[in-house]
Amino acid sequence: MVHHAASRRHFLQLAAGASALPWVASCASAGPAETLEGETPGSHEVRAIGQPMPRGVRLPDTPPQPRSADSVGFAVIGLGGYALHQMMPRFTRSRRAHIAALVSGNAEKAATIGAAYGVPEDARYSYDSFDEIAADDRIEAVYIVLPTGLHAEWAEKAFAAGKHVLCEKPMAMDPAECQRMIDASERAGRKLMIAYRCHFEPYNLRAMELMREDAVGDIRLIRTDQHYNAGPATPATNWRLSRALGGRGPLEDYGIYGVQSALYLSGEMPKLIGARAFQPAGDPRFTEIAAYVGTMMQFPSGAVAQLSTSYDAAGSNRALVRGVGGTLTMDPATNYDGIEMSLRTGGATEDFQLGDSTVQFAAQLDHLADAIRDGTQIKTPGEMGLRDIRLMTAIYTAAAENRLIAMNPDGTMKA
Ligand SMILES: NC(=O)c1ccc[n+]([C@@H]2O[C@H](COP(=O)([O-])OP(=O)(O)OC[C@H]3O[C@@H](n4cnc5c(N)ncnc54)[C@H](OP(=O)(O)O)[C@@H]3O)[C@@H](O)[C@H]2O)c1
Repeated sequence: MVHHAASRRHFLQLAAGASALPWVASCASAGPAETLEGETPGSHEVRAIGQPMPRGVRLPDTPPQPRSADSVGFAVIGLGGYALHQMMPRFTRSRRAHIAALVSGNAEKAATIGAAYGVPEDARYSYDSFDEIAADDRIEAVYIVLPTGLHAEWAEKAFAAGKHVLCEKPMAMDPAECQRMIDASERAGRKLMIAYRCHFEPYNLRAMELMREDAVGDIRLIRTDQHYNAGPATPATNWRLSRALGGRGPLEDYGIYGVQSALYLSGEMPKLIGARAFQPAGDPRFTEIAAYVGTMMQFPSGAVAQLSTSYDAAGSNRALVRGVGGTLTMDPATNYDGIEMSLRTGGATEDFQLGDSTVQFAAQLDHLADAIRDGTQIKTPGEMGLRDIRLMTAIYTAAAENRLIAMNPDGTMKA
Protein backbone atom coordinates (compact mmCIF):
# COMPACT_ATOMS: atom_id res chain seq x y z
CA MET A 1 0.00 0.00 0.00
CA VAL A 2 1.36 3.46 -0.86
CA HIS A 3 1.09 5.94 2.01
CA HIS A 4 1.29 9.70 1.82
CA ALA A 5 1.55 11.93 4.84
CA ALA A 6 -0.48 15.07 4.41
CA SER A 7 2.71 17.14 4.71
CA ARG A 8 4.15 15.32 1.71
CA ARG A 9 1.15 16.03 -0.41
CA HIS A 10 1.45 18.43 -3.17
CA PHE A 11 -2.00 19.91 -3.19
CA LEU A 12 -2.74 20.64 -6.75
CA GLN A 13 -5.26 23.25 -7.57
CA LEU A 14 -5.98 22.40 -11.13
CA ALA A 15 -5.66 25.96 -12.26
CA ALA A 16 -4.00 26.86 -15.52
CA GLY A 17 -0.26 26.61 -15.25
CA ALA A 18 -0.35 25.10 -11.77
CA SER A 19 -0.69 21.46 -12.69
CA ALA A 20 1.51 18.52 -13.47
CA LEU A 21 -1.24 17.17 -15.69
CA PRO A 22 -0.60 18.19 -19.27
CA TRP A 23 -4.28 18.54 -20.14
CA VAL A 24 -4.86 21.25 -17.57
CA ALA A 25 -2.97 24.06 -19.26
CA SER A 26 -4.22 23.19 -22.74
CA CYS A 27 -7.78 22.96 -21.48
CA ALA A 28 -7.45 26.39 -19.91
CA SER A 29 -6.45 27.94 -23.19
CA ALA A 30 -9.09 26.04 -25.15
CA GLY A 31 -11.95 27.71 -23.29
CA PRO A 32 -15.41 26.21 -23.08
CA ALA A 33 -15.48 23.35 -25.53
CA GLU A 34 -16.93 19.86 -25.70
CA THR A 35 -13.50 18.24 -25.77
CA LEU A 36 -10.33 19.30 -24.06
CA GLU A 37 -8.32 19.96 -27.18
CA GLY A 38 -4.61 19.22 -27.32
CA GLU A 39 -4.44 16.88 -24.37
CA THR A 40 -1.54 14.51 -24.06
CA PRO A 41 -3.25 11.13 -23.98
CA GLY A 42 -0.80 9.47 -21.57
CA SER A 43 1.47 6.50 -21.94
CA HIS A 44 -0.98 3.64 -22.43
CA GLU A 45 -1.64 2.01 -25.75
CA VAL A 46 -5.34 2.25 -26.58
CA ARG A 47 -5.81 -1.22 -27.96
CA ALA A 48 -7.79 -4.29 -26.93
CA ILE A 49 -5.30 -6.73 -25.40
CA GLY A 50 -6.18 -9.96 -23.55
CA GLN A 51 -5.54 -10.06 -19.81
CA PRO A 52 -5.08 -12.88 -17.29
CA MET A 53 -7.99 -14.56 -15.55
CA PRO A 54 -9.06 -12.40 -12.59
CA ARG A 55 -8.60 -13.95 -9.16
CA GLY A 56 -11.42 -15.76 -7.36
CA VAL A 57 -13.71 -16.34 -10.35
CA ARG A 58 -16.53 -18.79 -9.57
CA LEU A 59 -17.93 -20.73 -12.48
CA PRO A 60 -21.46 -22.09 -12.82
CA ASP A 61 -21.92 -25.75 -11.82
CA THR A 62 -23.94 -26.40 -14.97
CA PRO A 63 -24.07 -24.30 -18.14
CA PRO A 64 -27.02 -21.88 -17.90
CA GLN A 65 -29.88 -22.07 -20.43
CA PRO A 66 -31.98 -19.22 -21.87
CA ARG A 67 -35.18 -18.85 -19.86
CA SER A 68 -37.52 -17.87 -22.69
CA ALA A 69 -37.95 -18.66 -26.37
CA ASP A 70 -37.48 -15.01 -27.31
CA SER A 71 -34.39 -14.50 -25.13
CA VAL A 72 -31.85 -12.04 -26.63
CA GLY A 73 -28.37 -13.49 -27.22
CA PHE A 74 -25.52 -11.28 -25.97
CA ALA A 75 -21.82 -11.40 -26.86
CA VAL A 76 -19.82 -10.36 -23.79
CA ILE A 77 -16.71 -8.46 -24.87
CA GLY A 78 -13.92 -8.29 -22.27
CA LEU A 79 -13.71 -11.09 -19.69
CA GLY A 80 -12.46 -9.00 -16.78
CA GLY A 81 -13.36 -8.63 -13.12
CA TYR A 82 -16.75 -7.01 -13.50
CA ALA A 83 -17.92 -9.32 -16.29
CA LEU A 84 -16.83 -12.50 -14.54
CA HIS A 85 -17.64 -11.65 -10.91
CA GLN A 86 -20.84 -9.65 -11.36
CA MET A 87 -22.57 -9.59 -14.70
CA MET A 88 -22.07 -13.02 -16.27
CA PRO A 89 -23.37 -14.94 -13.23
CA ARG A 90 -26.46 -12.67 -13.24
CA PHE A 91 -27.57 -13.51 -16.80
CA THR A 92 -29.22 -16.61 -15.29
CA ARG A 93 -31.60 -14.32 -13.42
CA SER A 94 -32.65 -12.50 -16.55
CA ARG A 95 -36.03 -13.37 -18.11
CA ARG A 96 -35.04 -12.55 -21.64
CA ALA A 97 -31.26 -12.35 -22.06
CA HIS A 98 -28.56 -15.00 -22.30
CA ILE A 99 -24.86 -15.24 -23.07
CA ALA A 100 -24.55 -16.41 -26.67
CA ALA A 101 -20.90 -15.57 -27.36
CA LEU A 102 -17.66 -14.36 -25.81
CA VAL A 103 -15.07 -11.95 -27.16
CA SER A 104 -11.68 -12.00 -25.49
CA GLY A 105 -7.99 -11.48 -26.22
CA ASN A 106 -7.11 -14.42 -23.96
CA ALA A 107 -8.08 -17.63 -25.78
CA GLU A 108 -7.28 -19.91 -22.84
CA LYS A 109 -9.48 -17.89 -20.51
CA ALA A 110 -12.26 -17.77 -23.11
CA ALA A 111 -12.08 -21.58 -23.43
CA THR A 112 -12.43 -22.09 -19.66
CA ILE A 113 -15.23 -19.54 -19.34
CA GLY A 114 -16.94 -20.68 -22.53
CA ALA A 115 -17.02 -24.31 -21.39
CA ALA A 116 -18.48 -23.36 -18.02
CA TYR A 117 -21.14 -21.07 -19.51
CA GLY A 118 -22.04 -23.42 -22.38
CA VAL A 119 -20.79 -21.05 -25.09
CA PRO A 120 -19.90 -23.19 -28.13
CA GLU A 121 -16.35 -23.03 -29.43
CA ASP A 122 -17.47 -21.39 -32.66
CA ALA A 123 -19.07 -18.59 -30.61
CA ARG A 124 -15.81 -17.66 -28.86
CA TYR A 125 -14.31 -14.73 -30.75
CA SER A 126 -11.07 -12.81 -30.41
CA TYR A 127 -10.60 -9.09 -30.98
CA ASP A 128 -9.16 -9.98 -34.40
CA SER A 129 -12.13 -12.13 -35.43
CA PHE A 130 -14.78 -9.83 -33.88
CA ASP A 131 -16.13 -8.58 -37.22
CA GLU A 132 -17.28 -12.14 -38.02
CA ILE A 133 -20.08 -11.72 -35.46
CA ALA A 134 -21.99 -9.91 -38.24
CA ALA A 135 -22.83 -13.32 -39.73
CA ASP A 136 -23.62 -14.95 -36.38
CA ASP A 137 -27.39 -14.84 -35.83
CA ARG A 138 -27.03 -16.23 -32.33
CA ILE A 139 -25.76 -12.78 -31.33
CA GLU A 140 -28.23 -9.90 -31.28
CA ALA A 141 -26.51 -7.60 -28.77
CA VAL A 142 -22.98 -6.90 -27.61
CA TYR A 143 -22.25 -6.13 -23.94
CA ILE A 144 -19.12 -3.93 -23.86
CA VAL A 145 -17.26 -4.37 -20.59
CA LEU A 146 -13.82 -3.16 -21.70
CA PRO A 147 -11.72 -0.29 -20.28
CA THR A 148 -13.38 3.05 -21.01
CA GLY A 149 -10.88 4.15 -23.64
CA LEU A 150 -12.04 1.23 -25.82
CA HIS A 151 -15.80 1.70 -25.52
CA ALA A 152 -16.33 3.98 -28.53
CA GLU A 153 -14.24 1.92 -30.94
CA TRP A 154 -15.92 -1.39 -30.03
CA ALA A 155 -19.41 0.09 -29.95
CA GLU A 156 -18.87 1.38 -33.47
CA LYS A 157 -17.64 -2.05 -34.57
CA ALA A 158 -20.66 -3.73 -32.96
CA PHE A 159 -23.07 -1.38 -34.71
CA ALA A 160 -21.23 -1.94 -38.00
CA ALA A 161 -21.88 -5.67 -37.44
CA GLY A 162 -25.60 -4.89 -37.05
CA LYS A 163 -25.83 -5.62 -33.30
CA HIS A 164 -27.46 -3.73 -30.42
CA VAL A 165 -25.11 -2.42 -27.71
CA LEU A 166 -25.16 -2.40 -23.92
CA CYS A 167 -22.11 -0.34 -22.94
CA GLU A 168 -20.62 -0.10 -19.47
CA LYS A 169 -20.26 3.25 -17.75
CA PRO A 170 -18.66 5.69 -18.23
CA MET A 171 -19.87 5.80 -21.81
CA ALA A 172 -16.59 7.01 -23.35
CA MET A 173 -13.63 9.32 -22.92
CA ASP A 174 -15.16 12.57 -24.14
CA PRO A 175 -18.38 13.96 -25.63
CA ALA A 176 -17.10 13.56 -29.19
CA GLU A 177 -16.67 9.81 -28.70
CA CYS A 178 -20.14 9.58 -27.14
CA GLN A 179 -21.64 11.38 -30.12
CA ARG A 180 -19.87 8.99 -32.51
CA MET A 181 -21.47 6.07 -30.68
CA ILE A 182 -24.94 7.65 -30.83
CA ASP A 183 -24.51 8.40 -34.54
CA ALA A 184 -23.36 4.83 -35.24
CA SER A 185 -26.38 3.46 -33.38
CA GLU A 186 -28.72 5.64 -35.43
CA ARG A 187 -27.03 4.75 -38.71
CA ALA A 188 -27.32 1.04 -37.90
CA GLY A 189 -30.89 1.33 -36.58
CA ARG A 190 -29.78 -0.52 -33.44
CA LYS A 191 -30.30 0.28 -29.74
CA LEU A 192 -27.67 1.82 -27.49
CA MET A 193 -28.00 1.56 -23.72
CA ILE A 194 -25.54 2.62 -21.02
CA ALA A 195 -25.30 0.12 -18.15
CA TYR A 196 -26.31 2.51 -15.36
CA ARG A 197 -27.42 -0.29 -13.05
CA CYS A 198 -28.71 2.02 -10.26
CA HIS A 199 -31.70 2.88 -12.46
CA PHE A 200 -32.76 -0.75 -11.90
CA GLU A 201 -31.86 -1.05 -8.20
CA PRO A 202 -34.77 -1.04 -5.71
CA TYR A 203 -33.35 1.43 -3.16
CA ASN A 204 -32.22 3.96 -5.73
CA LEU A 205 -35.54 3.63 -7.56
CA ARG A 206 -37.41 4.23 -4.28
CA ALA A 207 -35.15 7.20 -3.50
CA MET A 208 -36.01 8.75 -6.89
CA GLU A 209 -39.69 8.20 -6.15
CA LEU A 210 -39.41 9.71 -2.64
CA MET A 211 -37.76 12.80 -4.05
CA ARG A 212 -40.49 13.14 -6.68
CA GLU A 213 -43.02 12.86 -3.83
CA ASP A 214 -41.26 15.70 -1.95
CA ALA A 215 -40.48 13.40 0.99
CA VAL A 216 -37.87 15.84 2.35
CA GLY A 217 -39.57 19.00 1.09
CA ASP A 218 -37.61 21.46 -1.03
CA ILE A 219 -34.08 20.13 -1.43
CA ARG A 220 -31.31 22.36 -0.10
CA LEU A 221 -28.27 20.07 -0.20
CA ILE A 222 -27.14 16.83 -1.81
CA ARG A 223 -23.85 15.27 -0.73
CA THR A 224 -22.22 12.23 -2.29
CA ASP A 225 -18.92 10.45 -1.55
CA GLN A 226 -17.33 7.74 -3.69
CA HIS A 227 -13.88 6.82 -2.44
CA TYR A 228 -11.47 3.92 -2.24
CA ASN A 229 -7.77 3.40 -1.90
CA ALA A 230 -6.33 2.07 -5.16
CA GLY A 231 -3.71 -0.52 -4.26
CA PRO A 232 -0.08 -0.22 -5.33
CA ALA A 233 -0.16 0.15 -9.13
CA THR A 234 0.89 2.33 -12.02
CA PRO A 235 -0.88 3.40 -15.22
CA ALA A 236 0.86 0.49 -16.97
CA THR A 237 -0.56 -2.09 -14.53
CA ASN A 238 -4.02 -0.63 -13.86
CA TRP A 239 -5.95 0.90 -16.75
CA ARG A 240 -8.04 3.00 -14.34
CA LEU A 241 -4.88 5.02 -13.58
CA SER A 242 -4.14 5.53 -17.26
CA ARG A 243 -5.23 8.77 -18.88
CA ALA A 244 -5.71 7.04 -22.23
CA LEU A 245 -7.84 4.14 -20.97
CA GLY A 246 -9.47 5.45 -17.80
CA GLY A 247 -9.90 9.21 -18.14
CA ARG A 248 -8.66 12.10 -16.04
CA GLY A 249 -9.38 10.79 -12.56
CA PRO A 250 -11.72 8.86 -10.24
CA LEU A 251 -14.69 10.91 -11.39
CA GLU A 252 -15.23 8.84 -14.54
CA ASP A 253 -15.16 5.41 -12.94
CA TYR A 254 -16.49 5.91 -9.42
CA GLY A 255 -17.51 9.54 -8.98
CA ILE A 256 -19.93 9.03 -11.85
CA TYR A 257 -22.29 7.47 -9.28
CA GLY A 258 -22.31 10.74 -7.35
CA VAL A 259 -22.96 12.76 -10.50
CA GLN A 260 -25.80 10.43 -11.43
CA SER A 261 -27.27 10.49 -7.89
CA ALA A 262 -27.18 14.28 -7.75
CA LEU A 263 -29.15 14.45 -10.98
CA TYR A 264 -31.72 11.73 -10.32
CA LEU A 265 -32.30 12.77 -6.71
CA SER A 266 -32.65 16.48 -7.47
CA GLY A 267 -34.48 15.87 -10.75
CA GLU A 268 -32.57 18.84 -12.14
CA MET A 269 -29.58 19.71 -14.31
CA PRO A 270 -26.97 22.05 -12.78
CA LYS A 271 -26.89 25.68 -13.83
CA LEU A 272 -23.44 26.25 -12.28
CA ILE A 273 -20.45 23.97 -11.73
CA GLY A 274 -17.28 24.56 -9.70
CA ALA A 275 -14.58 21.99 -8.97
CA ARG A 276 -11.18 21.20 -7.43
CA ALA A 277 -8.85 18.29 -8.01
CA PHE A 278 -5.48 17.26 -6.69
CA GLN A 279 -2.64 14.98 -7.60
CA PRO A 280 -0.26 13.82 -4.83
CA ALA A 281 3.38 14.37 -5.82
CA GLY A 282 5.60 11.34 -6.17
CA ASP A 283 2.80 8.79 -6.11
CA PRO A 284 3.28 6.28 -8.95
CA ARG A 285 -0.49 5.77 -9.11
CA PHE A 286 -1.17 9.38 -10.01
CA THR A 287 1.36 10.27 -12.67
CA GLU A 288 -1.35 10.61 -15.34
CA ILE A 289 -4.58 11.30 -13.47
CA ALA A 290 -5.92 13.24 -10.52
CA ALA A 291 -6.34 11.33 -7.24
CA TYR A 292 -9.26 13.42 -5.98
CA VAL A 293 -12.04 15.45 -7.57
CA GLY A 294 -14.47 17.61 -5.60
CA THR A 295 -17.43 19.21 -7.36
CA MET A 296 -20.02 21.80 -6.45
CA MET A 297 -23.21 22.03 -8.49
CA GLN A 298 -25.96 24.57 -8.12
CA PHE A 299 -29.38 23.73 -9.55
CA PRO A 300 -32.03 26.14 -10.85
CA SER A 301 -34.12 25.53 -7.68
CA GLY A 302 -31.21 26.82 -5.58
CA ALA A 303 -30.29 23.35 -4.26
CA VAL A 304 -26.56 22.71 -4.03
CA ALA A 305 -24.74 19.41 -4.56
CA GLN A 306 -21.30 18.67 -3.10
CA LEU A 307 -19.70 15.62 -4.69
CA SER A 308 -16.38 14.09 -3.69
CA THR A 309 -14.53 11.15 -5.17
CA SER A 310 -11.06 9.71 -4.94
CA TYR A 311 -8.80 6.71 -5.48
CA ASP A 312 -6.75 7.76 -2.46
CA ALA A 313 -8.99 7.65 0.61
CA ALA A 314 -10.68 5.08 2.82
CA GLY A 315 -13.70 3.46 1.20
CA SER A 316 -16.98 5.34 1.17
CA ASN A 317 -20.04 5.24 -1.03
CA ARG A 318 -22.91 7.32 0.24
CA ALA A 319 -25.51 9.90 -0.63
CA LEU A 320 -27.43 12.34 1.50
CA VAL A 321 -30.31 14.64 0.56
CA ARG A 322 -31.21 17.37 3.03
CA GLY A 323 -34.47 19.20 2.43
CA VAL A 324 -36.38 21.78 4.40
CA GLY A 325 -38.50 19.00 5.94
CA GLY A 326 -36.18 16.02 6.31
CA THR A 327 -33.11 14.03 5.32
CA LEU A 328 -32.64 10.97 3.15
CA THR A 329 -29.48 8.98 3.85
CA MET A 330 -28.08 6.15 1.72
CA ASP A 331 -24.94 4.44 3.05
CA PRO A 332 -23.85 2.55 1.09
CA ALA A 333 -25.75 4.20 -1.74
CA THR A 334 -24.83 2.51 -5.00
CA ASN A 335 -23.05 -0.74 -4.10
CA TYR A 336 -23.77 -4.04 -5.80
CA ASP A 337 -25.64 -5.14 -2.67
CA GLY A 338 -26.33 -4.24 0.96
CA ILE A 339 -27.68 -0.73 0.35
CA GLU A 340 -29.05 0.95 3.45
CA MET A 341 -31.49 3.81 3.26
CA SER A 342 -33.34 5.83 5.86
CA LEU A 343 -35.61 8.83 5.80
CA ARG A 344 -35.76 11.18 8.77
CA THR A 345 -38.68 13.60 8.92
CA GLY A 346 -40.26 15.39 11.89
CA GLY A 347 -38.26 13.46 14.50
CA ALA A 348 -39.17 10.02 13.08
CA THR A 349 -36.84 7.75 11.15
CA GLU A 350 -37.97 5.18 8.59
CA ASP A 351 -35.48 2.47 7.66
CA PHE A 352 -36.28 0.89 4.31
CA GLN A 353 -36.19 -2.85 3.65
CA LEU A 354 -36.59 -3.21 -0.08
CA GLY A 355 -35.11 -6.62 -0.73
CA ASP A 356 -32.28 -7.79 -2.87
CA SER A 357 -30.29 -5.05 -4.63
CA THR A 358 -28.60 -7.58 -6.89
CA VAL A 359 -31.73 -7.71 -9.07
CA GLN A 360 -30.24 -4.60 -10.70
CA PHE A 361 -27.86 -6.65 -12.87
CA ALA A 362 -30.46 -8.84 -14.57
CA ALA A 363 -33.04 -6.05 -14.64
CA GLN A 364 -30.83 -3.92 -16.87
CA LEU A 365 -30.32 -6.85 -19.25
CA ASP A 366 -34.09 -7.40 -19.44
CA HIS A 367 -34.61 -3.68 -19.98
CA LEU A 368 -32.52 -3.75 -23.16
CA ALA A 369 -34.06 -7.06 -24.24
CA ASP A 370 -37.54 -5.55 -23.86
CA ALA A 371 -36.50 -2.51 -25.89
CA ILE A 372 -35.18 -4.80 -28.65
CA ARG A 373 -38.22 -7.12 -28.69
CA ASP A 374 -41.08 -4.74 -27.82
CA GLY A 375 -39.70 -1.35 -28.84
CA THR A 376 -39.97 0.02 -25.29
CA GLN A 377 -38.01 3.15 -24.46
CA ILE A 378 -34.54 2.85 -22.92
CA LYS A 379 -34.26 4.68 -19.56
CA THR A 380 -30.48 5.02 -19.78
CA PRO A 381 -29.77 5.77 -23.46
CA GLY A 382 -26.59 7.02 -25.08
CA GLU A 383 -27.86 10.57 -24.64
CA MET A 384 -27.71 10.12 -20.86
CA GLY A 385 -24.14 8.83 -21.12
CA LEU A 386 -23.24 11.82 -23.31
CA ARG A 387 -24.87 14.22 -20.84
CA ASP A 388 -22.75 12.84 -18.00
CA ILE A 389 -19.50 13.01 -19.96
CA ARG A 390 -20.34 16.61 -20.85
CA LEU A 391 -20.79 17.37 -17.15
CA MET A 392 -17.43 15.75 -16.40
CA THR A 393 -15.83 17.88 -19.09
CA ALA A 394 -17.29 20.93 -17.36
CA ILE A 395 -16.09 19.69 -13.95
CA TYR A 396 -12.50 19.24 -15.15
CA THR A 397 -12.65 22.57 -16.97
CA ALA A 398 -13.92 24.31 -13.82
CA ALA A 399 -11.00 22.81 -11.88
CA ALA A 400 -8.50 23.71 -14.57
CA GLU A 401 -9.69 27.27 -15.02
CA ASN A 402 -10.39 27.89 -11.35
CA ARG A 403 -13.83 29.35 -12.01
CA LEU A 404 -17.53 28.62 -11.84
CA ILE A 405 -18.96 27.44 -15.14
CA ALA A 406 -22.45 28.38 -16.27
CA MET A 407 -24.22 25.38 -17.78
CA ASN A 408 -26.86 24.75 -20.41
CA PRO A 409 -29.65 22.29 -19.55
CA ASP A 410 -28.12 19.66 -21.87
CA GLY A 411 -24.89 19.55 -19.86
CA THR A 412 -22.83 21.66 -22.24
CA MET A 413 -20.97 24.72 -20.99
CA LYS A 414 -22.34 28.13 -21.78
CA ALA A 415 -20.11 30.05 -24.17
N1 LIG B 1 -21.42 -0.92 -13.51
C1 LIG B 1 -20.54 -1.21 -12.55
O1 LIG B 1 -20.85 -1.30 -11.37
C2 LIG B 1 -19.12 -1.46 -12.94
C3 LIG B 1 -18.22 -2.00 -12.03
C4 LIG B 1 -16.92 -2.28 -12.44
C5 LIG B 1 -16.53 -1.99 -13.74
N2 LIG B 1 -17.43 -1.45 -14.60
C6 LIG B 1 -17.03 -1.11 -15.96
O2 LIG B 1 -16.73 -2.32 -16.66
C7 LIG B 1 -15.66 -2.09 -17.58
C8 LIG B 1 -14.54 -3.08 -17.29
O3 LIG B 1 -14.12 -2.95 -15.96
P1 LIG B 1 -13.43 -4.17 -15.15
O4 LIG B 1 -13.38 -3.76 -13.75
O5 LIG B 1 -14.08 -5.44 -15.50
O6 LIG B 1 -11.95 -4.15 -15.79
P2 LIG B 1 -10.91 -5.32 -15.81
O7 LIG B 1 -11.14 -6.28 -14.70
O8 LIG B 1 -9.57 -4.71 -15.92
O9 LIG B 1 -11.25 -6.12 -17.16
C9 LIG B 1 -11.19 -5.49 -18.41
C10 LIG B 1 -11.11 -6.56 -19.50
O10 LIG B 1 -11.10 -5.87 -20.74
C11 LIG B 1 -10.28 -6.59 -21.66
N3 LIG B 1 -9.25 -5.69 -22.21
C12 LIG B 1 -9.06 -5.50 -23.54
N4 LIG B 1 -8.07 -4.64 -23.76
C13 LIG B 1 -7.59 -4.27 -22.56
C14 LIG B 1 -6.54 -3.40 -22.16
N5 LIG B 1 -5.79 -2.73 -23.06
N6 LIG B 1 -6.30 -3.25 -20.84
C15 LIG B 1 -7.04 -3.90 -19.93
N7 LIG B 1 -8.05 -4.73 -20.25
C16 LIG B 1 -8.34 -4.93 -21.56
C17 LIG B 1 -9.68 -7.77 -20.93
O11 LIG B 1 -10.51 -8.89 -21.22
P3 LIG B 1 -9.94 -10.14 -22.05
O12 LIG B 1 -8.74 -10.65 -21.30
O13 LIG B 1 -11.08 -11.09 -22.06
O14 LIG B 1 -9.60 -9.64 -23.43
C18 LIG B 1 -9.83 -7.40 -19.47
O15 LIG B 1 -9.91 -8.54 -18.66
C19 LIG B 1 -15.28 -0.63 -17.41
O16 LIG B 1 -15.97 0.13 -18.35
C20 LIG B 1 -15.77 -0.29 -16.01
O17 LIG B 1 -16.06 1.09 -15.84
C21 LIG B 1 -18.70 -1.20 -14.23
